[in-house]
Formats: sequence, structure tokens, C-alpha cells
Amino acid sequence: MENFNFYSPTYFIFGKGRENEVGEWINRFGGSKVLVHYGGSSAVKSGLLDRVKASLKKNNIDFIELGGVKPNPRSGLVYKGIEICKREGIDFLLAVGGGSVIDSAKAIAAGALYDGDFWDFYCGKEVEKALPVGTILTLAAAGSEGSDGSVITHENGMLKRSAAGDALRPTFSIMNPELTFTVSPYQTACGITDMMAHVMERYFTNTKEVEVTDRLCEGLLVAIINEAPKVLARPDDYNARANIMWAGTIAHNDICGVGREQDWATHKMEHELSGLYDVAHGAGLAVMFPAWMKYVMQHDVMRFAQFAVRVWGCEMDFQHPENTAKKGIEKFEQFLVSIGMPIRFEQLGAKPEDIPILVKNMQLGDRTLGNFVKLTEEDITKIYELAV
Ligand code: NZQ
Ligand code: ZN
Repeated sequence: MENFNFYSPTYFIFGKGRENEVGEWINRFGGSKVLVHYGGSSAVKSGLLDRVKASLKKNNIDFIELGGVKPNPRSGLVYKGIEICKREGIDFLLAVGGGSVIDSAKAIAAGALYDGDFWDFYCGKEVEKALPVGTILTLAAAGSEGSDGSVITHENGMLKRSAAGDALRPTFSIMNPELTFTVSPYQTACGITDMMAHVMERYFTNTKEVEVTDRLCEGLLVAIINEAPKVLARPDDYNARANIMWAGTIAHNDICGVGREQDWATHKMEHELSGLYDVAHGAGLAVMFPAWMKYVMQHDVMRFAQFAVRVWGCEMDFQHPENTAKKGIEKFEQFLVSIGMPIRFEQLGAKPEDIPILVKNMQLGDRTLGNFVKLTEEDITKIYELAV
């Protein structure tokens, strides 16, 4: 196991009706002038936003609203939010929505305390300070409610990039599984795929003897695989939604990734897809993850065989571990299809002739991508081709 720091300061407030406490929690964490950030329409339609505002009023908290965050959130609204924060003396951000809303709020929170262009943070500068961000999560997927990351697409070139820093970890996250009952089957499946991908980016590692995190990853994947058909069959199954919601958080707050080298090549390859085609991140991952696995499997057949046996219940073929490894990837693909995910470029609306653009947009230069196998531009091209 490698040395690590683990800092996960978020206060999680989980369960039925907990969003009605939001005003109390903002008071407790010292917010007095709040920017309430939300997406297109779901939080308005469900009445959630009205309940949030009622709680803020009851607790005498001043607030300004900024809605309109699109999936794959854009830089334009972030600039607008930063300007509002600076002008109005905002001291707390409240994100009401999914990963896109939370990421947009995080970007605004960092930009509000920075004199330069917030985009610097998405070009490699670490975020060292940000306004506090509280979240009310409405979609189990990205894990942004507990993560130190934020992903934004710059409208100039539609480049999708991520920023990171401990200052971006939310101060609190309110998680009521009931709020996810209205998420469509497609978005639910995208979320399930994303959380599985967050575990697998950590699972496929060159670090040896990381038994605790290996078992955490495997257990989490098995639980997600078991709960997925339940939430898809019955969207208002509270306990299944609750399990999926908590899985999404621990899949990405890094408790499953400490002490081990992590990969993240597939996420970067996917971000180019959702940047260029504006597709859902989870759907892009469903197309890219099996392709990446097929390409890198030979690098550590035994790790893939372990994944097949412990996660997918495959029988170990001791004579030919490669067959077991392949079986695991096949089972993963079948699972993705069973929950309604695309697994090919065409199903996503991506075009094979755009592969050189996807690779170029990555701006890798002489660098490589990922850690499990360090991928060159040529490797990345081949992986995109495997996904066609
Ligand atoms: O905009 P509204 O009307 O709210 O609709 C949203 C949106 O259309 C809808 N939705 C959300 N909650 C709902 C709901 N519909 C009905 N009922 C509800 N309760 O769902 C749609 C998708 O929302 P979005 O926030 O985009 O989805 P998700 O949570 O999957 O977030 C995706 C974004 O997170 C980034 C992705 O790249 C993508 O941009 N990621 C962020 C990470 C992080 N910050 O740590 C890590 C991830 O790897 C990921 O890259
Ligand atoms: Zn993701």
C-alpha cells in the first residue's frame, strides 16, 4: 500500500425529508447570504426549490437564485455566477441538483475568491480556496456531493476539463433518496454506470496488496449490480434508491481509492465524447469502459480474472485465466445492455471519423494517459476504434 492523505470533511445529512432542514444547516455552517444554484426544471417542477426557499426564509437567510445549469455544465453560467457572488457579497453556495449543478456551484465558489480567470483551475491550477458549498443531491451518479472535483465545459472550443482541490469538497450534502424517484430510467442507468466507473478507475491498479480497498471496491460493485435492477423496475423503491445513492457517494469520495495508484484514462476519454457530442457522461463511460478493458487486459490478466470471479461470479479457469478475464468483461457489457446503456459509438451518436478530433482535443502532447497502462495517442486511437 502507498502512503496517502484522506480528507473527507463533508457532513452528510441522509434520509427522508431532510432537505427541509437546509436553512438550519446553512446557519450552522455560517452562511448568511446564499446563492441558490439549480438546473433546468426538475427541482422547480417537483416543488423542491419552493421547500428549500421556505426553509431559508424560516431561518432568516438572504438568498439570490441562479438556475439554468445544463448537463455537462458550461463556463458561461459560471462566469455569471462569479460576477453575482462578487457583486452581492455571497458567502455560501447551495447547489440543488445533480452532478452538473454541484460542479457549476463549485466552479463559482472557487472563482468568487480568485482574481484571475476561474478556467485556470481547469487547466491544472489547484483550487486552494473556495466559498463553502452545500448540496441537496437529486441524482445518484457523479459523486460530486462528496468529491474534491468539478467538471466544466468551456464554450470556447467545447473543451471539458476537471479541477480538483480539498477546498471543493462540499461542506454538507443533504441526501434524500425520495428526491431521486423522478429520475428517468436512462439517467438512473447513466448514474449507475458512472458510479461503477468511479470504482473501476480505482480498482485497476498496479499497486500490490491493497486488500482492504480491493474488497471495498468489489463489495460496492456487487451491491450496485444487485440494486440496479430494483431501482429500474420500481423507481420509488426507497431502500434500493437509498443504497444506490450512498453507493454513488462512497464510489467517489476516495475511500475506495486511498493507498493505491488510480487510472482515470477512461474518464478522460469519455470527457472528450461528452464535450464534443454533449452526451450523458455515464452513457459515454458505458461505451468506453469495456473498450479500455479489452485493450489493457493483457497487462494484468489475473486482476481481470479476480474482477470476473469476485464481482461477476465467474468460475475461475485456472488453466486459462485469460478466458475468465474475458468472461468478466463480457458480463460487464451484458449488464450495461440490461440496464439500457449504449455500448457502441453509433448508439451514442458518435462518429468514427471524429476519432482524430477526440484525440487532438485531449491535448496530450508528449504525455501519456492513465496509470494502469500508460496510453499514448496511438493507444487511445485504438481504444476509441474498439468502441466503434
Ligand atoms: O436540469 P434538471 O432539470 O435538474 O434535469 C437534470 C438533467 O437533465 C436531471 N435530473 C436531476 N435530478 C433529477 C433530474 N430529473 C428528474 N428528477 C430528478 N430528481 O438529470 C439530468 C442530468 O443531470 P446531471 O446533473 O447532468 O447528471 P449527473 O449527476 O450524472 O452529472 C453529470 C456531470 O458530472 C460530471 C460529469 O462529467 C457531468 O458533467 N462529473 C463530475 C464529477 C465530480 N465532480 O466529481 C465526477 C464524475 O466523473 C463526472 O465527470
Ligand atoms: Zn464519472
